Amino acid sequence: MSQHPPSLYLSSIFVALALLFLLIGTSSAQLDENFYCKKCPNVFDTVETVVKSAVSKEQRIGASLLRLFFHDCFVDGCDGSILLDDTSSFKGEKTAAPNNNSARGFEVIDAIKSKLEAICPGVVSCADILAIASRDSVVILGGPFWNVKVGRRDSRTANFIAANTGVLPSPASNLTKLISTFKAQGLSVKDMVALSGAHTIGEARCTSFRNHIYNENNIDSTFAKIRQRKCPSTVGTGDNNLANLDLQTPTHFDNNYYKNLIIKKGLLHSDQELFNGGSTDSLVQTYTQNEKAFDSDFVAAMIKMGNNKPLTGGQGEIRKNCRRLN
Ligand code: HEM
Ligand SMILES: *[C@@H]1O[C@H](CO)[C@@H](O)[C@H](O)[C@H]1NC(C)=O
Ligand SMILES: *[C@@H]1O[C@H](CO)[C@@H](O)[C@H](O)[C@H]1NC(C)=O
Repeated sequence: MSQHPPSLYLSSIFVALALLFLLIGTSSAQLDENFYCKKCPNVFDTVETVVKSAVSKEQRIGASLLRLFFHDCFVDGCDGSILLDDTSSFKGEKTAAPNNNSARGFEVIDAIKSKLEAICPGVVSCADILAIASRDSVVILGGPFWNVKVGRRDSRTANFIAANTGVLPSPASNLTKLISTFKAQGLSVKDMVALSGAHTIGEARCTSFRNHIYNENNIDSTFAKIRQRKCPSTVGTGDNNLANLDLQTPTHFDNNYYKNLIIKKGLLHSDQELFNGGSTDSLVQTYTQNEKAFDSDFVAAMIKMGNNKPLTGGQGEIRKNCRRLN
């Protein structure tokens, strides 16, 4: 250093500091599409093969995998914490209200993990498996493709309390609350509306939409009556009866979810909040008319959600079994 003139010395300190801030400022800096290129070159093919076979057996599983990734990323970051089983000494997130009797797809993650452990043991994280499997699910069901950045590591902890108390959005939420729940994860209003388009696939239990179909006015009455047939009004009866979130094309990833919202056929109270005379009406309108705009905003928001507080470098671990700590 001493041989450099003072001005160069100062400017190199400046450059070093600027680089440091850049690294610290973006927590996703270490995620990289090529992270497994050398250590596990077949990771993407392996995940895709298992997801394809699972979806061909049961199309809903694609929706379930996508939702698992969302619930993983919201509760303290995309770190595989949702996959951990409860034990006598460990309370995981699986029985938190939004997940209990609802989150599913864990067997598919197990199947992917065991294939990957056979070809490259101890290399691919469960958190990355979730990220790749949800992208594959969207693509297999006819939605847009994107490159998944990887390099996440698995948590050694879970957060039941956060998962159980409002970090995950509730179907009873109003628009203001939905916006703030996503903002708390660094996601914008546009991200929230685009990500909600995930409800173009999958199903919900009667208990999640009973109040909306019996007690609310901002719902098409014919649609409400159809949904009431398999969802009794009495709390505790038929709670787990299922209905498609997207009335017409529940196994096809398209923009039909938004088309239903503008004719008041949203299944959840929270769905209909996105088109109920408020600030997000115009974006919902846009997505009904422009599927390309939906696809590109959905992809951008999925990437952003996937960058949420990943563990990297020496943090966490690479679990051998996604259900338990090493
Ligand atoms: C905007 C706030 C959101 C709320 C209030 C919400 C709420 C819900 C509820 C209540 C269910 C039904 C659960 C059940 O009854 O078992 C559900 C299902 C689902 N959600 Fe969301 N969700 C939201 C956002 C998202 C996001 C951001 C994604 C993914 C990017 C997503 C993906 C899904 C999928 C795919 C299903 C169907 C799962 C299956 O069939 O197994 N949701 N959601
Ligand atoms: C989860 O659901 C089961 C079965 O309905 C129930 O017995 C249990 O109390 C629920 N767990 C929590 C933490 O609410
Ligand atoms: C939205 O819901 C929150 C509680 O979740 C409540 O405090 C707020 O008053 C509600 N806002 C509107 C506009 O209804």
